[in-house]
Amino acid sequence: MWLFLLLGLVFVEAAAAGEIRLLTPAADSIIYSRNRNINVVVAVADKADVGRVALADARRGSRFDPVGRWEGKQGITYVHFRVPLRRGRNMLQLAPVARDIKIRYFPVSSLLNVDYSRPDIFLFHRNREVPAECSACHTDKLPGGVKAGRVIYGRYSPGCYSCHPKTAAAGEWRHFPAANLLCRSCHEKEGEKKIIVPSGKVEEVCFRCHINDRKWRRARHIHGPAGTGDCTICHDPHNGNYRGQLWADGRGELCVACHSDKKRFIQPEQRRFYVHGILQAKGCNICHSPHASGHRFQLDHEINDLCVSCHTRLAELKRGHPVANHPLSGRPDPRRSGRRMACTSCHDPHGSKYKYLLIADVRGGRICVKCHQGKMSVVRGIGRR
Ligand code: HEC
Ligand code: HEC
Ligand code: HEC
Ligand code: HEC
Ligand code: HEC
Ligand code: HEC
Ligand code: HEC
Ligand code: HEC
Ligand code: HEC
Ligand code: HEC
Repeated sequence: MWLFLLLGLVFVEAAAAGEIRLLTPAADSIIYSRNRNINVVVAVADKADVGRVALADARRGSRFDPVGRWEGKQGITYVHFRVPLRRGRNMLQLAPVARDIKIRYFPVSSLLNVDYSRPDIFLFHRNREVPAECSACHTDKLPGGVKAGRVIYGRYSPGCYSCHPKTAAAGEWRHFPAANLLCRSCHEKEGEKKIIVPSGKVEEVCFRCHINDRKWRRARHIHGPAGTGDCTICHDPHNGNYRGQLWADGRGELCVACHSDKKRFIQPEQRRFYVHGILQAKGCNICHSPHASGHRFQLDHEINDLCVSCHTRLAELKRGHPVANHPLSGRPDPRRSGRRMACTSCHDPHGSKYKYLLIADVRGGRICVKCHQGKMSVVRGIGRR
């Protein structure tokens, strides 16, 4: 008797749930993504229920408005929501079925340590390209006005557009293969039909097309993050608001986000602080390569050659600045062990609180005693090698 009652209950419950089905995402999952907005799609069999379907943030009690309700085959209505996730735990509730949707969200900025093969990570395309139920409406057809040219290389995949329009066409700067719907060029694994997310060292994906940049690997000095093959820590593979699809201005803001000690050089209006004029005007990359070069600090030239390429008055000078006969190269730098004299022995290439970007005040010879102790003739460290 009890058993019958119980079975009956389970049956009723199953039938109700069958009428309102959550199609994506999985109800209890972990999401690793750069994009914090996810799509929630619900299939509703009974028309009378369509108006009652609601999605709420269970903790805050706030509701999300559907982005659309579309009727498909067999009178089923597909209600679409778009939900911004917060880092960590998110709890959504689907009404009227009282279904909890638990999601743990981790924003991704580097792909080096993400392992998408973990089964507890939700991937919509994990097992197949797209479920047939979605394909009924989501086809290869592009809306009028979208121009995505067929180009001679890359894998043209117009079918991605109807579900991922922003990936193809948002942001001020668009990466050519994303804007031209060559999505599969990066999201495909040889011989497999499903859609994958590149992870780990993504540079291999980039070098497929940017073949000339492969030479960075052989350069003598490779910038830290570029050396790890982590190209997308700086470049969004799809689009962005800054040139090069970077997430901040590549001329400065991007650099000082990691090199925070250099922040003060790009802040405007600083009293009693001299910033190198060219850094203010052109940014970090006028001297440094963001990727790799043949010179230390990924500079475009050896230090003195770099400086005199603009400060031409001092070109070819080995001696004679700032005072007669003073060496500018060759001799060991008494202040920096293992280094030789260079312009940066006395000048900070970025900025300084002393005039002429000097490492110390020129008045009273304070800069001179940085290397020349006491009497001028005694130079600390010199002759010792
Ligand atoms: C029917 C709609 C639909 C189509 C068509 C579609 N996607 Fe998706 N895709 C989704 C949904 C839903 C997600 C889950 C994330 C979200 O909610 O935005 C997703 C997630 C992804 C992800 C993240 C990894 C994953 O599997 O969750 C990638 C990469 C991706 N899509 C690429 C593509 C590419 C490339 C194409 C075209 C070949 C494509 N998608 C076509 C709906 C679609
Ligand atoms: C009954 C038709 C229909 C079905 C079935 C359907 N959708 Fe949609 N979907 C639409 C329409 C229409 C739009 C709006 C497209 C537009 O604005 O051009 C849309 C939009 C979307 C978008 C958002 C695109 C954006 O603007 O960001 C995603 C993602 C999406 N659908 C995923 C899915 C998934 C996943 C499935 C299957 C589980 C699915 N849809 C099933 C009709 C449908
Ligand atoms: C140049 C390679 C490349 C191309 C082309 C490309 N993607 Fe991606 N995509 C990636 C990488 C790498 C990731 C991993 C996450 C990241 O770094 O943003 C990714 C992540 C995604 C995601 C997961 C959400 C996110 O942003 O993390 C979606 C969805 C996606 N791509 C869809 C597309 C669609 C749709 C296209 C075509 C319009 C496309 N991609 C073209 C490389 C590419
Ligand atoms: C399918 C081929 C293809 C792949 C794969 C590819 N790119 Fe590109 N990329 C291009 C093309 C084509 C251009 C445009 C070149 C031009 O305009 O001169 C471009 C341009 C760029 C630019 C310069 C944009 C600008 O404004 O100057 C950057 C940065 C870039 N890609 C980074 C990447 C990164 C990072 C990856 C790997 C995640 C990657 N690309 C993978 C084809 C590709
Ligand atoms: C530290 C951040 C950073 C990393 C990591 C990085 N880039 Fe860049 N990249 C930049 C900046 C900054 C620019 C200059 C953008 C501009 O034109 O203003 C740039 C420009 C580019 C360009 C266009 C101009 C050129 O030099 O060819 C390509 C292509 C490119 N990067 C590809 C890559 C690839 C491939 C990787 C991974 C091996 C990578 N980048 C890693 C910051 C980075
Ligand atoms: C994602 C973080 C990140 C960003 C963004 C970044 N860097 Fe770096 N940078 C590093 C790391 C990590 C190293 C390696 C540090 C080390 O080896 O001690 C490094 C090293 C350097 C070095 C060499 C330092 C040395 O002592 O040898 C220079 C120069 C440099 N970066 C300049 C730049 C410039 C210019 C930009 C902007 C285009 C930039 N970085 C953007 C992380 C970053
Ligand atoms: C005028 C050319 C020039 C510009 C512009 C420039 N640098 Fe440098 N940078 C140098 C030189 C030269 C060195 C080597 C200094 C030395 O000899 O110790 C250097 C060294 C560095 C180093 C490693 C040593 C240290 O001081 O930490 C980092 C990191 C660095 N620069 C980052 C940046 C960033 C970030 C920017 C933009 C805000 C920038 N640079 C702009 C020329 C420049
Ligand atoms: C790409 C060109 C360029 C490079 C490379 C360059 N500078 Fe400059 N430098 C400038 C400009 C422009 C100014 C600002 C001139 C002004 O304000 O009168 C300047 C200003 C200076 C000043 C201050 C001059 C004054 O009268 O206050 C010093 C010192 C200086 N640079 C030293 C160096 C050193 C040392 C290097 C090499 C690490 C270097 N510069 C590399 C262009 C450059
Ligand atoms: C031994 C320390 C020292 C070295 C090395 C040095 N400088 Fe200077 N520099 C100074 C001093 C001190 C001044 C201020 C001179 C004055 O007050 O007359 C100065 C002034 C300058 C100025 C601004 C005034 C002017 O003459 O235009 C520039 C530009 C400059 N140096 C560039 C360089 C370059 C480029 C190098 C490398 C080729 C270099 N310096 C190497 C100490 C040095
Ligand atoms: C970064 C270290 C450094 C600074 C700062 C510096 N010097 Fe020197 N100075 C040297 C070195 C190295 C020598 C070469 C010593 C040798 O040849 O053994 C030298 C040599 C000299 C000589 C001898 C030149 C000759 O005829 O051989 C004079 C004079 C001199 N310095 C004056 C100055 C004055 C004045 C200042 C301050 C404006 C100054 N130095 C700042 C490192 C420095």
